[in-house]
Amino acid sequence: MALINWSSADRTDLARIAAEVLSWERSVPDSPLYSAFALGIAEDPDLLRLVARIDNVPPMNLLLGAVKLTLSSADALAAWYPHLTSQARPAGDAAFAAFRDHVLSRADELLAIAATHRTQTNETARAAVLLPWIPTEVPVHAIDLGASAGLNLCLDRFSYAYTGDRAARLGRGEPRLDCEVHGDIALPTRLPELASRTGIDLSPIDATDPDAAAWLEALVWPEHQDRLERLRAAIEVRRSVDVRMVAGDAATALADVVAALPPGAVVIWHTIALYQAPPPVLADIDAAVAAAARTREVVRIGFEPVTAGQDPEIRVGPVFADAPVVARAHPHGRWLQSAA
Ligand SMILES: C[S@@+](CC[C@H](N)C(=O)[O-])C[C@H]1O[C@@H](n2cnc3c(N)ncnc32)[C@H](O)[C@@H]1O
Repeated sequence: MALINWSSADRTDLARIAAEVLSWERSVPDSPLYSAFALGIAEDPDLLRLVARIDNVPPMNLLLGAVKLTLSSADALAAWYPHLTSQARPAGDAAFAAFRDHVLSRADELLAIAATHRTQTNETARAAVLLPWIPTEVPVHAIDLGASAGLNLCLDRFSYAYTGDRAARLGRGEPRLDCEVHGDIALPTRLPELASRTGIDLSPIDATDPDAAAWLEALVWPEHQDRLERLRAAIEVRRSVDVRMVAGDAATALADVVAALPPGAVVIWHTIALYQAPPPVLADIDAAVAAAARTREVVRIGFEPVTAGQDPEIRVGPVFADAPVVARAHPHGRWLQSAA
């Protein structure tokens, strides 16, 4: 969760910093380890002073990502994490003590990482949420707005196991995305054929760069072994697939990207990305989609949080704000619920 007033917060007020850390803690119900660390930090003036020195947001994600990054080749990783991967066995004092020692002894290194990295992830399992609405009758040019590392532009190479009210198996490759379907959702019978793949992002990540891949991995919370495995598998796929990444604002880049494509239908999607964009950016994206739709077939699929505290919505239509809600889904694609 973003710490909304972080830039203007009084960083010398440790009670205020502790309150922010506790507020962040409430957003990590599925990481007992990070929850325990946050509760420990909130009572530890030395650690609070260190958190206060992180300028970027959210500082807790950056600190914990930096810790995980600096542990990845160290024995400490094995010592801290395995016995904490079960929700039934919460983090103990020994783990927090080891964490505290690590943070304080390598404070400068961790702060440097926090100052130079962004909390930018790429959730592969969101592909399972998009797939039912991607046309399969004809090859389509795929454009991902806010693509991050562009991993989901390889979604035709992944495999899918839908279970629940509707079931389907598609593809054979890794990663395998498991998604539980609630309600009446027409699942595809085959994977789409992507004629081209373009990702637009304000700050694209080159997942084939080992340092960038290591940071993507570091941002995955330690208990989420399934997410980590999917991420690694998707990065492997990405190495052999031709994805064009465009650095820029989708508001200005989209029209040129579409204009440069060979003839053919276009599918434009955005997953947990454009909720970050201000209204003028959204209006420009809507206009670019509308302009593209005047020259070719265009399908736009948005998967975005709309209402605080509610699951993100999937909407299909040229203007996300006006488009009908077709489903809701778990933010990491674990389940898909029909809107009907
Ligand atoms: C939370 S990440 C999600 C990434 C990816 N879509 C996924 O589902 O894993 C949001 C991404 O959107 C990008 N983004 C936000 N606003 C954007 C804009 N106006 N144009 C292009 N990219 C944008 C950010 O840089 C970031 O990489």
